[in-house]
Amino acid sequence: MQSPSLSIDLDTLAGNIRALHAKLRPDSQIMFVVKSEAYGHGIHAVAERAAQEGIRWFAVAYFEEALEVRKAAPDADILVLGPISPEETPLAIQYRITPTVVDAEHAKALATIALQKEKTLNAHIKIDTGMGRMGTLESEDDSQIKAILNTPGLEITGICSHLATVDLKRPWLQEKQHQRFVNAFTVAEAIAGRRLMRHFCSSRGIQYYPEWDYDAVRPGILLYGYGCNDPRMRVQTKPLLQMKSRLMQVKRVPEGTPVGYYSSYRTTRETQIAVVGAGYADGYLRSLSNRGEALVHGERVPVVGRISMNWITLDLGPDLVCKAGDDVVLIGEQNGNEVWADWLGRRAGTIAYEILTAIHPRIPRQYR
Ligand SMILES: Cc1ncc(COP(=O)(O)O)c(C=O)c1O
Repeated sequence: MQSPSLSIDLDTLAGNIRALHAKLRPDSQIMFVVKSEAYGHGIHAVAERAAQEGIRWFAVAYFEEALEVRKAAPDADILVLGPISPEETPLAIQYRITPTVVDAEHAKALATIALQKEKTLNAHIKIDTGMGRMGTLESEDDSQIKAILNTPGLEITGICSHLATVDLKRPWLQEKQHQRFVNAFTVAEAIAGRRLMRHFCSSRGIQYYPEWDYDAVRPGILLYGYGCNDPRMRVQTKPLLQMKSRLMQVKRVPEGTPVGYYSSYRTTRETQIAVVGAGYADGYLRSLSNRGEALVHGERVPVVGRISMNWITLDLGPDLVCKAGDDVVLIGEQNGNEVWADWLGRRAGTIAYEILTAIHPRIPRQYR
């Protein structure tokens, strides 16, 4: 096969889950974030294996993703992080999917549908403590929280917020958000007259603030093997996704040979240029043109010239012995050398999240 393929090691995922469980406070559980096709890894296979490894809670961005998780994990609890629409409410009740309500109006819209069906909808309240995205603003005025909690047809079972910042040089930013979260759940629980499921931290918060584990943590990137690049961090995990392809042609060329669209690269010596079956249409970002690196026979070789829709060109140097059909690792490891999504992200001016989620869903994923 000359187009790229993905291999995903689910045993590594299981190891990552165990590594996190071992470090979490015993009364805190993992709410595994599997949105965007489990960060490009494939939502079904990832959720199914994670459920087998003891994950009870999953979080997704959109309602349709929750239905995917339900197929893979029939007994799990599933939280939709984004606001679902009222039309989705009957299916949410039927499939035991928990939405987050973002304000009193949203709560009422969902609850009205639940009441029409003579049902109660379980939901979590999302508090905006500083992300400035979704959720009810935490403020002196608790009327929004009160209105949400008193909405007939709605049973609020949890309360959450999302950190915008975990900056070790400016810790007051996350501390301020945390304090607002404490204020919000204190008010909400007083109004409700019962304890709610509290959850606050995503991967970076988990690493640096064990005291904020609460009833659940919401890791995404950490369980996919990233966000632990400092060995002193609380939890160490390993990447599970590798992207591979093949050399399609290897060609010896003289010094001064232009490579790719608009000749952005020119060879500086006699060398070998190899063409690899992968391009930006597969999700290998074009911003890696003249910046990426790949592994061939265990050697790190530079991506040269502009990345085109379906092909990448590598400068193999004059001496590497290889031929068309040989393996190329675009993300992963080979003979002890490594090129991972966080490194590629830095080279491309982005983050591992984008490198992983950009990988086209059409590319075959082989699970081990
Ligand atoms: C609300 C919420 N919680 C948790 C996460 C997981 O974040 P991370 O992958 O950094 O752990 C996300 C991801 O964007 C999110 O939006």
